[in-house]
Formats: sequence, C-alpha cells, structure tokens
Amino acid sequence: MAEVVTRLVSDAPKVTRDECAVIALEEVSREYAGRTGVVRALDSATFSIVAGEWVAITGPSGSGKSTLVNLLGCLDRPTCGSLKIDGVEVGAMSAKELDRFRADKIGFIFQQFHLIPYLSAVENVMLAQYFHSMTDESEARAALEKVGLGDRVGHLPSELSGGEQQRVCIARALINNPPILLADEPTGNLDQANQKIVAGMLEGLHAAGHTIVMVTHDPEMAALAPRRIALNHGRVFCHPVSGMVRLPFS
Ligand SMILES: Nc1ncnc2c1ncn2[C@@H]1O[C@H](COP(=O)(O)OP(=O)(O)O)[C@@H](O)[C@H]1O
Ligand SMILES: [Mg+2]
Repeated sequence: MAEVVTRLVSDAPKVTRDECAVIALEEVSREYAGRTGVVRALDSATFSIVAGEWVAITGPSGSGKSTLVNLLGCLDRPTCGSLKIDGVEVGAMSAKELDRFRADKIGFIFQQFHLIPYLSAVENVMLAQYFHSMTDESEARAALEKVGLGDRVGHLPSELSGGEQQRVCIARALINNPPILLADEPTGNLDQANQKIVAGMLEGLHAAGHTIVMVTHDPEMAALAPRRIALNHGRVFCHPVSGMVRLPFS
C-alpha cells in the first residue's frame, strides 16, 4: 500500500507555487503621503503563499508589518504592483467589492480581540455570520465549543479572560470557513499559559489544512511556523521555499 501511495504521489503533476497560490504579490509597494514626503512602507514585495502554509511575518517596529497585513486582509490596496488573493486582483476592486471579498476570504484574529463589548460570545460569532450571509446560532455555539468555550457562550467579553476572548476571536475567524486566516500578534496580549493554548490551537488549525498568515514579534511564536517572511524597512526577505509544489491526488 505504501508503495502505491508513493507512486501516486511521485506521478502527481507538479505545478509552480504561483499556480496554486492563495496569496500572490508581485512588486507590491504601498506609499503614504507623509508631512515630510512620501513614505514607502512596503517596497516592491514579491512572494506567494500556497494553501495550507503557515507563514510568520516578522520584523522590527516600523518595518511595514501592519502595512502588509492591511493589504493581505483587503483592508487597503497597493499603491502599485499586483496583489492576488485566491486568484483575484485586489487593486482592481471597488471599496464595496473589497468588503464582500474580505468577508468571504479572510478570517481575522487580532491582538486586541476587537469583540463587541455589549454582545455575548455567541452573539459576537453570530455577527460575523450576519456580515457574511445569515446567522445560525447552533453553528456559532458549536464553533465556541470547538475552542473549549461551550460553557461561556452567554458571557460578555468583559466577563472573559484574555485567553478566552482570543478563543472567541478564533471561533469568529473560522465561522465562515475562509480560505485564509490572518493573525496579527495573536498572543501579544496573553499571559504565558494562554499563549500556549492559542499557539496549540494555531498548530491544530495548520494540521487541519488551514492557511495561516501570522504577524508576530515573539520569536517563539515565529519558530512554530514552518516558514518565515522577514520585513526590514519595507523590504521583504523570504526564507527559501521550493519553487515547485506537488498536488498529491489531483
Ligand atoms: N498612514 C500612514 N501615513 C504615513 N506613514 C505611515 C502610515 N502608516 C505607516 N506609516 C509609516 O510606514 C512605516 C511602516 O509602518 P507599519 O506598517 O505600521 O510598521 P510596523 O507594523 O512593522 O510597525 C513606518 O515608517 C510608519 O511610520
Ligand atoms: Mg504594526
């Protein structure tokens, strides 16, 4: 049996990374008009991320991490260059199209959680369903159960610990089954015990095949991701990856 699988895999067609990229940047720059002139916060970034990858984006403060995350999260558009998410050119979309696209494609996990303070945990998850399509309370409850919060569904964010709030965020990010999870310093506001829990959850999501792009200052978190992309003064330095990807059973 092992032999058959090995043969199937080795016979499988090879495609370039770019052909199966969920995220593809080519010469992407983002400039801001500052008081003292133009700031090139992201400078000619070219790289791709394929489905199922877990990538850590690292770099010192001011290196362009937030600028890049805003672009990958379809919260902003490049000044120039090509940015494709799931094969679609982001720069060509109107603001309204971008809103819809973002709801379909990206699940956000924020350092500051960004939960609505007067909505319960389950209502916060249902709000993401509402913005995407329609609410389904039993699905939202099930998503909270999956992150170990089945007994906290009715709690307000202020009645939850930081770690619990981040788990609500993870449930909210996953509820519409987006192809990309974008995590911005997901453990930045957590104590060590909760950091471990959230790191373990990200590992589980990666093992389950999710595509994760994670910005982090924390070397321990960055080390968990199999691939790292470093930013410095807006320039991107990618750790080398193979140019070819094997699709096992297609
Ligand atoms: N809206 C803005 N207007 C002008 N300059 C900005 C703006 N946002 C960011 N910058 C500048 O762009 C550079 C990169 O910023 P940022 O992406 O926030 O870096 P990081 O998230 O790595 O700290 C910094 O020099 C910052 O001052
Ligand atoms: Mg930042």
